[in-house]
Amino acid sequence: MSPNNALHTFQEDLKTITSLERLSALETQYLGKNSVLYAALKSMKDLDPEARKRLGQEINHIKRTILEHISLKKTELLSNVNKKNHVDVTLPGKKYESGSLHLVSYAIEEISAIFERIGFIRMSYPEIEWEWFSFEALNMPAGHPARDDFETFFIDTPAHKEYGKMVLTPHTSSGQIREMLRLRKPPIRMINIAKTYRPNWDASHVPMFHQFEGLCIDKKINITHLKGTIDYFAKEFFGEDREIRLRPFHFQFTEPSFEVDITCDLCKGTGKIGISSENPKSKVQRPSSKCRLCKQGWLELGGTGMVHPNVLSAGGIDPKEYTGWAFGFGIERVMMMKPGVGLNNMRALYDGDIRVLELF
Ligand code: DAH
Repeated sequence: MSPNNALHTFQEDLKTITSLERLSALETQYLGKNSVLYAALKSMKDLDPEARKRLGQEINHIKRTILEHISLKKTELLSNVNKKNHVDVTLPGKKYESGSLHLVSYAIEEISAIFERIGFIRMSYPEIEWEWFSFEALNMPAGHPARDDFETFFIDTPAHKEYGKMVLTPHTSSGQIREMLRLRKPPIRMINIAKTYRPNWDASHVPMFHQFEGLCIDKKINITHLKGTIDYFAKEFFGEDREIRLRPFHFQFTEPSFEVDITCDLCKGTGKIGISSENPKSKVQRPSSKCRLCKQGWLELGGTGMVHPNVLSAGGIDPKEYTGWAFGFGIERVMMMKPGVGLNNMRALYDGDIRVLELF
């Protein structure tokens, strides 16, 4: 190969070089002791002076050209290496996903704030409770059929002499007794928000759920205070246009007892979906059908009543001197009834499906 050809093949080879190591090998190949150029240099001594001069100039030119190309390639390869390690501080930072509170936690915060505004103290009592606080003290002696309403998880430990077996709190009403025994003396205004457990699992029941229990005890407390407070809660939580009603019921721990209903948001308390509720002014006659959400315009909120004298006595409070009211509602239930929440399966709250959780 002539030195000129060597320059040509060098330029072709150079195009394929992508690393500094291979560049250095290429340099040895074209300028080292085994190169065409070196051989040509050695052959110069046999030439006449004219030809030697020409070949000398040619070799020098080729060598310089090769060295220049190598130097340029080196700079290019080095800058590529630097680019890879380069940190551009002006680029926007990595965006981390931000979490949010669970829907039930939001509801708990909202409910406690509503009651704290009217002077109720937020409490939460043990999730694992004695049978006595959950039943006996609430006027449900052992063997009483009313206990059947509260299917209960019992804990497999030896029973306490006075308090009986250990249970997973089946309702927050045991907090009434705990609060009376804590304060001993009214006035009492408590909101107990806690986890509760019952072995049920369907679209409107989960085995672990939450309740909030209101308790108000003082001298001369009566049903009007109860109704006023629940009405205040319903309007704050669900909206100004909602109405409540008390429907006679039976609970062992209250007398009289009621279930609280609230007007349905979907049919606006009419019980019917159609022209009257959707657009009362519409001239178009459309048949109205039964509301799919409620019973005749009303939705059930939960239980309430005037605290039974036996319950006051179990809490160490004299029923001749003091009266009180209490209520117990389910958090998941009231939350799902809130306009705009749009959840119709309670289990979705606890499945941990990120697509559901991200909606809120
Ligand atoms: N503890 C009842 C339940 O879980 C609800 C309840 C009803 C609570 C009436 C009360 C009440 O405080 O007065 O079903």
